[in-house]
Amino acid sequence: MKEKIDQLKKLREEAQKGGGEEKIKSQHEKGKLTARERIDLLVDEGSFSEIDMFVKHRTSDFNLDKQKILGDGVVTGFARIDGRPIALYSQDFTVFGGSLSESHAEKICKIMDLAMKMGIPVIGLNDSGGARIQEGVVSLGGYADIFLRNTLASGVIPQISAILGPCAGGAVYSPAITDFIFMVKHTSHMFVTGPNVVKTVTHEEVTFEDLGGADTHSVKSGVAHFSFENELEVFQNIRKLISYLPLNWKDRSPEKEFNFDQDFIETKLDNIIPDNPNKPYDMKEIIHLLLDDEEFLEVHANYAENLIVGFGRIGGISVGIVANQPSILAGVLDINASVKGARFIRFCDAFNIPILTLEDVPGFMPGTEQEWNGIIRHGSKLLFAYCEATVPKVTVITRKAYGGAYDVMNSKHIRGDFNFAWPSAEIAVMGPKGAVEIIFKREIDKAEDKESRLNQLISEYTEKFANPYIAAERGYVDDVILPSETRLRLINTFQLLKNKVDNNPKRKHCNIPL
Ligand code: HXC
Repeated sequence: MKEKIDQLKKLREEAQKGGGEEKIKSQHEKGKLTARERIDLLVDEGSFSEIDMFVKHRTSDFNLDKQKILGDGVVTGFARIDGRPIALYSQDFTVFGGSLSESHAEKICKIMDLAMKMGIPVIGLNDSGGARIQEGVVSLGGYADIFLRNTLASGVIPQISAILGPCAGGAVYSPAITDFIFMVKHTSHMFVTGPNVVKTVTHEEVTFEDLGGADTHSVKSGVAHFSFENELEVFQNIRKLISYLPLNWKDRSPEKEFNFDQDFIETKLDNIIPDNPNKPYDMKEIIHLLLDDEEFLEVHANYAENLIVGFGRIGGISVGIVANQPSILAGVLDINASVKGARFIRFCDAFNIPILTLEDVPGFMPGTEQEWNGIIRHGSKLLFAYCEATVPKVTVITRKAYGGAYDVMNSKHIRGDFNFAWPSAEIAVMGPKGAVEIIFKREIDKAEDKESRLNQLISEYTEKFANPYIAAERGYVDDVILPSETRLRLINTFQLLKNKVDNNPKRKHCNIPL
């Protein structure tokens, strides 16, 4: 027996080394951790149970039969984060550049299949040169097997991807189907084809960083939801994200213990909205003051900043926040903000996470650039996502709720459960100046002093429409509340809505405008 035990220990030691000391050194020199070091930093200590450590590839072409490495470039298994189970895979760049072989793909598919049966999230730590070139179509097939599973798991279990090195070709499409992508500044890259191919095909000269670095994807393309300075920050924030999520679509997010016996009046909220309705303010200040411990995990923090989305807790309940940001482009809804918001709302709805909407929006962005790029098609994604969401939905209108954006931002008409407005709310078809210039065009043209007539009409219109009371008269707004009492109202409201049930009609699937 001792011999057999020693043999197993030796094999395990061999597997731990991946591609060997030299490759591990080179990985560290690039500022990257190894597949196993990453797992250690991500999961609860001692909780990782590895499977398929002894899997090898089955290829003999290109002399690969002489290079069989235990595990075949990916470490897979199950672990816990804050005591809750997760499945994970961690690609090992020291083995054939983390490239995906048939066996490598089978290992990932195995943990995904088990995760689906168990109803637990999958976390993928990606560091891969893409399809293993020597295996040809077999490796392409392996990717397709993963894409299918990612798609079938969408909305069933949360799927989170960390990009921790190069991710080229097929290696980007699996993460792209998952719910959240994390990147590391300077050491992680995502692209369909690398700079050399780009140069050949389009004659563009571009660096790895500009083409597909963390800044590119978190600011310009919106592919990455989070970007951090180093891998440790990525793992800490994946843990934080997981803490807001349920294990699967039938589960509920863990509720944090909460002391209801406190004073929830927040007087600072009474002084945030400026007297001048055209002056910006920072909606994030309001978000922080409304959330438990002022803790907010912002998603897509650097992309389409005119709309803020992220997670927090209210009265211990995990909540998704969608908020216009008046300090960026006056909080207008443009294409990127609409897509960002729609994707986030659909995630929350799929996983039973209530949505809080904070509204101060002058409308949709006008102009040829937006129209020609499809603001109608993309804006309708946000509208569609809000309409179809059946989770608890609460809105607070802090200031402007103009035009179509009033309807879109979780209005009562599209199944907002509780819609509140601050006394500073202005709910109208459009802003006073634009409205008066249209409906009193002739009268203004005829006036002797056009400017003073215009100003008089603006102030009459403002007096009549720029307030929350007409909407409140109709019940479109359930209550007009003081900013300072908003946290209290939200705590009570989300408690009330805990067991809310609503449904959509039966069908094969909806057809969200894409
Ligand atoms: C086999 C690969 C590999 C691959 C890298 N390696 N990519 N082996 N298949 N796809 C191996 C290298 O040969 C090398 O082996 C080791 O990994 C490390 O690679 P380096 O090039 O030395 O590392 P680095 O300089 O850091 O560059 C990393 C890289 C580059 C940017 C990922 O290797 C690269 O461009 N690889 C090819 C990327 C790609 O085009 N993949 C195919 C995509 S097509 P040794 O033994 O020398 O250490 C695809 C189709 C799926 O994925 C489509 C589905 C929709």
